[in-house]
Amino acid sequence: MTHTHDGIDWPSRLAAFRRIDELQEPVMRTVAERLIELTPARATVADIGPGAGGMSTALAMAMGKRGGGTVVLVDAVPELLSASAEQVRRAVTSLPEQVDVRAIRVDAASDELTSLLSDVDLVWASRVVHHLPDQQDGINRLTRLLAPGGWLAISEGGLGTRCLPWDLGVGEPGLGDRLEAAGAAWFADMRSGMPGSVRLPVGWTQALADAGLVGVSSFSYLIDLPAPPSERVRQSVVDWLSWVAGVAAERLGEADQAALVRLLDPDDPAFVGARDDVFILTASTIHLGRKISG
Ligand SMILES: C[S@@+](CC[C@H](N)C(=O)[O-])C[C@H]1O[C@@H](n2cnc3c(N)ncnc32)[C@H](O)[C@@H]1O
Repeated sequence: MTHTHDGIDWPSRLAAFRRIDELQEPVMRTVAERLIELTPARATVADIGPGAGGMSTALAMAMGKRGGGTVVLVDAVPELLSASAEQVRRAVTSLPEQVDVRAIRVDAASDELTSLLSDVDLVWASRVVHHLPDQQDGINRLTRLLAPGGWLAISEGGLGTRCLPWDLGVGEPGLGDRLEAAGAAWFADMRSGMPGSVRLPVGWTQALADAGLVGVSSFSYLIDLPAPPSERVRQSVVDWLSWVAGVAAERLGEADQAALVRLLDPDDPAFVGARDDVFILTASTIHLGRKISG
């Protein structure tokens, strides 16, 4: 049963989200500490669409070193909500300062959200706004959750994920580039296919300013996990290739589809998870702005 607007089977993504969270943990910790520095003591922080809970955990850990507070996880998908909340609850038991954890199951595109949550000092929403039919409306709603002086930080855009050598020796060279193009076409179809889909004809910083936020800025972080890969990187490359193949293979030619079958077959000598030359290189951009006090 789907609980979101995009028809995506989110529970099936949980294991892959956990693996990428583990790989990104050091970077997430740095980003979380930077964001928590913006908040007052005993802040309330919300993570909208937390996935497996990697960033919620990083935010809770940062708060635990700065006086504690409350982390609120918000997700429309029960399996993701309970998994992420469980992960954060486990992590906060070891903290020097108390961090309370709340979990709210609600569609971020519904006005019910604003009746369930308010006075938030930091709203973090990573890669979830683009799953809402009307992204500006979604950003406006997230802004309404903020306390005066509170911050909205959304992670959207950046650079696509690169994992593969240009010539894999299976199929034609340049598969990574064609997968990226097919993934982009899938994304455009996913957006336009959502019931009630509305285009966002501006960049993210403008969307935040249009929501009434001030001091809007952006910064990016790099995930750079070069070859030779650790076992986790290998598995995450398999996760990434399986995901793109699943959503985008039909947009590729027959030769590329045949190459993907071989690359994803653990019993094939061409299995991508057995290669020593795969890697993960990607960048994510965070856009943030503040609600005016008073
Ligand atoms: C792409 S994942 C992002 C996970 C994590 N924030 C990250 O950046 O890695 C999208 C998350 O948003 C949730 N989600 C999707 N649509 C939603 C909606 N309409 N309302 C609330 N949560 C939603 C999914 O269940 C999932 O946890």
